[in-house]
Amino acid sequence: MARASSSRASRFVCQNCGASAPKWSGRCDACGEWNTLVEEQVPESAPKGLGRGAGKRIDFVDLKGESERPPRRMTGIAEFDRVCGGGLVPGSCLLVGGDPGIGKSTLLLQVVCRLAAKLRCAYVSGEEAVDQVRLRAARLGQSNARVALASATNVRDIVASIDGAEAPDVVVIDSIQTMFVDTLDSAPGTVAQVRSSAQELIRVAKRRGIVLLLVGHVTKEGTLAGPRVLEHMVDTVLYFEGERGHQFRILRAVKNRFGPTDEIGVFDMTDAGLDEVANPSELFLAERRGDVSGSAVFAGLEGTRPVLVEIQALVAPSPLGTPRRAVVGWDGGRLAMVLAVLEARCGVQIGANDVYLNVAGGLRIAEPAADLAVAAALLSSLTGEPVPADAIVFGEIGLSGEVRPVSQAEARLKEAGKLGFARALMPTRRGRAGTRGADHGLRAVEIAHLGDLLPLFQDAAESRRSARSA
Ligand code: TYD
Ligand code: MG
Repeated sequence: MARASSSRASRFVCQNCGASAPKWSGRCDACGEWNTLVEEQVPESAPKGLGRGAGKRIDFVDLKGESERPPRRMTGIAEFDRVCGGGLVPGSCLLVGGDPGIGKSTLLLQVVCRLAAKLRCAYVSGEEAVDQVRLRAARLGQSNARVALASATNVRDIVASIDGAEAPDVVVIDSIQTMFVDTLDSAPGTVAQVRSSAQELIRVAKRRGIVLLLVGHVTKEGTLAGPRVLEHMVDTVLYFEGERGHQFRILRAVKNRFGPTDEIGVFDMTDAGLDEVANPSELFLAERRGDVSGSAVFAGLEGTRPVLVEIQALVAPSPLGTPRRAVVGWDGGRLAMVLAVLEARCGVQIGANDVYLNVAGGLRIAEPAADLAVAAALLSSLTGEPVPADAIVFGEIGLSGEVRPVSQAEARLKEAGKLGFARALMPTRRGRAGTRGADHGLRAVEIAHLGDLLPLFQDAAESRRSARSA
């Protein structure tokens, strides 16, 4: 074999899952992806066993003790600070992932421009030239912010520039996939390069107490490009997401060593950068018309924050042998389940229809609590009867058609009350019979079984029909 002549051994590392194999193959044995193995040199000093030398004893301490809470650097962008768990922690590393063009560079430039008022900030772009970043700053109205700007990709140079007495407090690396360590042979963006680059940068950040903000691209499968490994190395992982056609952007914490996850921040992409959205429910409901069929307002929960969104359904006779099911913003499998329960447990004939489901505003909902709202939107579209304009809906549906309680009903009701809703179609609450009607100005319409939802639409449609014929 030709490779035997080279002095250093090589291995093949999967760019998708990071598994390594001694020889190339078309498909990774570990994750099953095709064409992801890339050759890498094995580092010369292969790890050895522990050997015989005695180790130093480490000091164990009590779990309880006086530890200082990490100080925080607040950006003043409330949505961002909250998602980070209450500001940025010095010496920590935060990774912002997202599709190309979603606004990661814009967000981080805005963040450093804000921080630059009090702290030394540096922005290193590996993707854009200095002029391009300047143009963006001008567009954001931040040309005067005291941010040190550079265009560089060699990690050795970057480390040399930020590792000194004059170390900046905050460094943005945009993006980690463009960075490379010159002692490695592989191309920038490969697992080996991304891992080593991040390692070097994180090491300096920890030593100097720098807040390190990394931008990472996302692959078409929706995970951070190549390296899962990167997610383990950093302290916080945020995803910046949204539908391209919509102007809303959602920043979501998926890992945070310094705060809660599942927290979201909502932004509005304008022509002068990202604006915070303090009350997302108002925004998501802004274009709702209360009097049309096929629409239901779901009282959802994103992290600690209740968010009301409109769920739209369209049920129409299908010209096709296999009717179409199209879902935007929700899980297709979950929709299939709700449809099956409607058919099998409630006798609703939907099977021969095309079904379209859309979460308005570009939000993605993952909660099973949306089941009942989806069912309401579907029934409304099927019967042509609008869901009452002043009603919100939430509840999880089980396979036998039972409607199950969901977490934090109080918070959902409170948000709905604030926005002027008067009715809640919701699961029955155990032991709460006496307090009905007193919930934040909302009347609770308790639904124990999906079948109980049907009459609401059928009766209304019926009475409308008889009123018309009379
Ligand atoms: P960008 O931050 O470059 O995205 P990423 O770094 O995630 O690839 O933003 C890209 C989009 O944002 C681009 O299509 C233009 C749009 N944009 C605005 O709408 N308003 C603005 O003020 C800015 C700076 C960008
Ligand atoms: Mg960018």
